[in-house]
Amino acid sequence: MPCECCKITNDQFGKDTAEADLKEYRRKGPAKQTRLILEAVRSLNLKDASLLDVGGGIGAIYHELMKDMVSHATHVDASSAYLTAAKQETERRGNAEKVNFIHADFTDVAETIPQADVVTLDRVVCCYPDYKSLLKAAASRSSRALVMAYPRENGLSRFVITVMDWFLKISRNPFRVFVHPVAEMNALLRAEGLQRKSLSRLFVWEVALYQRS
Ligand SMILES: C[S@@+](CC[C@H](N)C(=O)[O-])C[C@H]1O[C@@H](n2cnc3c(N)ncnc32)[C@H](O)[C@@H]1O
Repeated sequence: MPCECCKITNDQFGKDTAEADLKEYRRKGPAKQTRLILEAVRSLNLKDASLLDVGGGIGAIYHELMKDMVSHATHVDASSAYLTAAKQETERRGNAEKVNFIHADFTDVAETIPQADVVTLDRVVCCYPDYKSLLKAAASRSSRALVMAYPRENGLSRFVITVMDWFLKISRNPFRVFVHPVAEMNALLRAEGLQRKSLSRLFVWEVALYQRS
């Protein structure tokens, strides 16, 4: 984990957060925006697909998709605590042989990772300042589709995230959350050969499905 940005992310998503998220997932299943991602991926009607989950947290996306659609997943995460929790759940489900775990800043290792049918980023771009490098790297690893959840670009999400960043700042926490420009993310992915096929919205989150033309 060489870069400062990754150290900050690793520290932000520590053991307590990872354990709490895993407990929540076991109790209630996937979060709302994750369910929209799952719906979008399932709409592709793939079989035995490969998945690359960038910043997958406790791994909810592949835990679910391995029930019916995905036969192999790679999980790249800047948080070692999340990877530990994700591994634990993967083993509990008997899928240990089917998931490759990588602790890294995805932008540093993307070129070494094989392409996958589907790349997912669930609430990840908003944790990374350089969304252009992150999305370019993610697009380069996707052979069919990319699905991501990110904050809606509206007054409410800007307000919520400004307040969150203010609290982080006054508590001297260097981690920040970002509302990146949706039109620019869309244009970047289009330039990488991915067309937006669907868009669903929650109160704060937006989920977009992109497919290779
Ligand atoms: C808000 S959490 C979301 C976790 C999970 N996807 C979810 O929705 O519950 C953000 C995740 O992105 C990861 N992350 C952020 N930037 C990353 C990067 N450049 N490379 C790899 N992982 C990254 C963090 O470590 C963390 O797991």
